[in-house]
Amino acid sequence: MRGANIGIRPLTPHLGAEVEGVDLSQPLTDTQFADIQRAFLDWSVLVFRDQKLDREQHKAFGRRFGKLHVHPLKASPGYEQHGDPEILVVKTTAKSKFTAGDGWHTDVTCDAEPPMGSMLYVTQVPPNGGGDTLFADMYRAFDTLSASMQRYLESLTAVHDGARPYVGNYGYALPGTATYPKNEHPVVIKHPETGKKVLFVNSGFTTHIKGLKSFESRALLDMLFAHIASTPSLTCRVQWQPNTLTFWDNRCTQHHAVWDYFPDTRYGERVSIVGERPSA
Ligand code: SIN
Repeated sequence: MRGANIGIRPLTPHLGAEVEGVDLSQPLTDTQFADIQRAFLDWSVLVFRDQKLDREQHKAFGRRFGKLHVHPLKASPGYEQHGDPEILVVKTTAKSKFTAGDGWHTDVTCDAEPPMGSMLYVTQVPPNGGGDTLFADMYRAFDTLSASMQRYLESLTAVHDGARPYVGNYGYALPGTATYPKNEHPVVIKHPETGKKVLFVNSGFTTHIKGLKSFESRALLDMLFAHIASTPSLTCRVQWQPNTLTFWDNRCTQHHAVWDYFPDTRYGERVSIVGERPSA
């Protein structure tokens, strides 16, 4: 498939595409930008190969889509980072105790306005393979539930808490009495641009569903998380090469970074773009 200015090669029939014919180190023309925006809404996960970007070029591409996001982990003294507040380092080595994103999640849904998208630029991949990222389509996750379950989920609101991954999994407490963001979002949201319904709970951040007994909330979330984790037809898989940038729509996908390459190293930097408050 080829638009006027870019080439599109789908990874699966419904989710993910490689984009050809764009040099992201150069300012995009308005037509290129419109083609990428269209492809982003159509495919939700866009993969750009062989890009040579410095940090300013990476951020400039992000800024075409909106204001850049500052990750809540930037406030933690324990989290080793590059100094730029808008760049999140995603680095795993033989010394790592965890790898960021090693579990199904949507980025930073603890925020009142979670990122609309993230752009991960990977420059170092493990020498013996591995380190792929799986993506799952949350339109399809919703569409493949029964009509009765869809109706019930549409009546619910869930709580998303940053402490769950950042303290619970990573061990990065904030100084003093500071806490990570914690916010409520509808369990089913409407994508602000496509208008399609999206299942919007994730095992990374969603702690419970409001108004249910604790055992009911746990059982319902476990069922939904199992649906996402055990339905391969929801997914696509990005195999990184050095200098690959992947841009995902954080409003309608989840992802899982696979840590199957210990003790090898993988290195990337992520820029995210602030989104709007999710609504039904
Ligand atoms: C993340 O942004 O969750 C990390 C994804 C990855 O490293 O593939």
